[in-house]
Amino acid sequence: MPADAGTRALHGKVAVVTGAGRGIGRAIAQTYAAAGAAVVCSARNADDIAHTVALIAAAGGTATACAADVVDLAAMQALLAHAAETHGGVDIVVANAGVNGQHCTVQEADPADWARTIQVNLIGAFHTAQAAIPHLRARGSGKIILVGSGMRKGAQAGRSSYAVSKAGLWKLTEILAVELQPYNISVNELIPGPVKTAMTAFGARPVPAGEWVKEPDDLVPLALFMATQPDIGPTAQSFSLMRRAG
Ligand SMILES: NC(=O)c1ccc[n+]([C@@H]2O[C@H](COP(=O)([O-])OP(=O)(O)OC[C@H]3O[C@@H](n4cnc5c(N)ncnc54)[C@H](OP(=O)(O)O)[C@@H]3O)[C@@H](O)[C@H]2O)c1
Repeated sequence: MPADAGTRALHGKVAVVTGAGRGIGRAIAQTYAAAGAAVVCSARNADDIAHTVALIAAAGGTATACAADVVDLAAMQALLAHAAETHGGVDIVVANAGVNGQHCTVQEADPADWARTIQVNLIGAFHTAQAAIPHLRARGSGKIILVGSGMRKGAQAGRSSYAVSKAGLWKLTEILAVELQPYNISVNELIPGPVKTAMTAFGARPVPAGEWVKEPDDLVPLALFMATQPDIGPTAQSFSLMRRAG
């Protein structure tokens, strides 16, 4: 856990992080807990999120685990209700859960895998936001952070399902920001750039040219910055750790 997250800048806040069982989501959950937030850690694998919660508790933070599949809207509604009931409300929601999808051309793609990638990365984020909105509105302000990808820009052969899912996610970010601005809820995209996680398996796969390849903890300063902006701070913005624009 990063020492500079210990400023308690999120004291009294409640954060929900999807995909918090490992990788980037776990690092964000640990960061927000270190900054004083109560964090609800979610993913499908109960053991993984229990481990994230144990790491947070061992560091003196507050967290609970709630298993949910982002594809299941009712499960996401139950997740947000759990957060509100257990911790008294919801202030920050990080739609981070994601899958990589097949690396293959459109011609070669398995239609079921293509659809599944859209289901998890795009429709899952829609479910997360829709389930969160009543709780954020009840609070009078809040933040939704969607974890996007630089793949939404440009066009790379063999990455259609993932790139399309993240392109849709960016448009969802912009539209949510407009719809929720009257309620003091900001909505922004965090683009991590290449990060060593189970998803990317760098080592087995080539490292993207011209980019720093980071550890999940390298996202901590940006994730904390985004969560600690004023209620009427930036919205409809993309914050990226990639060098290339597209
Ligand atoms: N790593 C990178 O280089 C990179 C770059 C740009 C963007 N991103 C984005 O960053 C996010 C996190 O990626 P990561 O690299 O940390 O991947 P990761 O290590 O594979 O972690 C993904 C997390 O999402 C959860 N998840 C997957 N499907 C889910 C579902 N249907 N419902 C709920 N949770 C689900 C996984 O847990 P369960 O399997 O237990 O559900 C896991 O906790 C993703 O949105 C990814 O697209 C990553």
